Amino acid sequence: MNEELHSKRRLYGRAAGKPLSKRQTGRIETLLPQLAVPETEKGALEPLSLFDGKAHEAWLEIGFGGGEHLAGQAAKNSDIGIIGAEPFLEGVAKLLSEIEERQLANVRVRRGDARELVDQLAAKSVDRVFILFPDPWPKTRHRKRRLIQPDFVGDLARVMKPGARVRFATDWADYAERALADFLRDGRFAWQAERAGDWRAPPADHVTTRYQEKRLGDCEPVFLDFVFRG
Ligand SMILES: C[S@@+](CC[C@H](N)C(=O)[O-])C[C@H]1O[C@@H](n2cnc3c(N)ncnc32)[C@H](O)[C@@H]1O
Repeated sequence: MNEELHSKRRLYGRAAGKPLSKRQTGRIETLLPQLAVPETEKGALEPLSLFDGKAHEAWLEIGFGGGEHLAGQAAKNSDIGIIGAEPFLEGVAKLLSEIEERQLANVRVRRGDARELVDQLAAKSVDRVFILFPDPWPKTRHRKRRLIQPDFVGDLARVMKPGARVRFATDWADYAERALADFLRDGRFAWQAERAGDWRAPPADHVTTRYQEKRLGDCEPVFLDFVFRG
């Protein structure tokens, strides 16, 4: 069955790759159901409720890839609940192995389209969002496939608490420019950079991602941090 058909919106990119190892399959079958973020009606999902009262903030990572950033943040911030959304099965399996090895109790996972998850989240329920090195779709005719579009910026704004933060990173110059323009055009996101070094240097709390290390883009990595004014 084509897994993309589950999504109301079209998902571009891979949902599955190489066959999983036996251990990875085991984690998908047993650990994923324990950590999975349930599907809900639009606007009904209260993210903090997924963490049994043990988290005082809810963070969201969209397209976590192999999960190294998400697991790194979860390990450093045990009092924060972090939800990751990723359609790619192998990436989910990698995150699950990190969760198991590092005994992370503060991670929940949605295998699927982050746009659907964002629709389901309650208004003003998220404290922080990470969108790190999303698929660049560099060809002009493929730009509509990019995750960051004005509508999606509006969807994120609905679920963010006033004062919540977003970090967007890319190593494609055109995507950086357009994403910056989309966030600023919305009018509710304040870009935190004061000088060039603020967006050129990885922020102090950043955890390097696998895609970032590949250096596939046409510029040095750019990190755009915004505060949602509400
Ligand atoms: C270029 S990779 C970067 C992965 C990771 N953030 C990193 O930096 O290594 C982009 C990831 O976004 C995921 N992705 C694409 N569309 C998505 C969507 N609508 N919702 C959630 N994840 C998505 C892809 O499956 C892929 O793993």
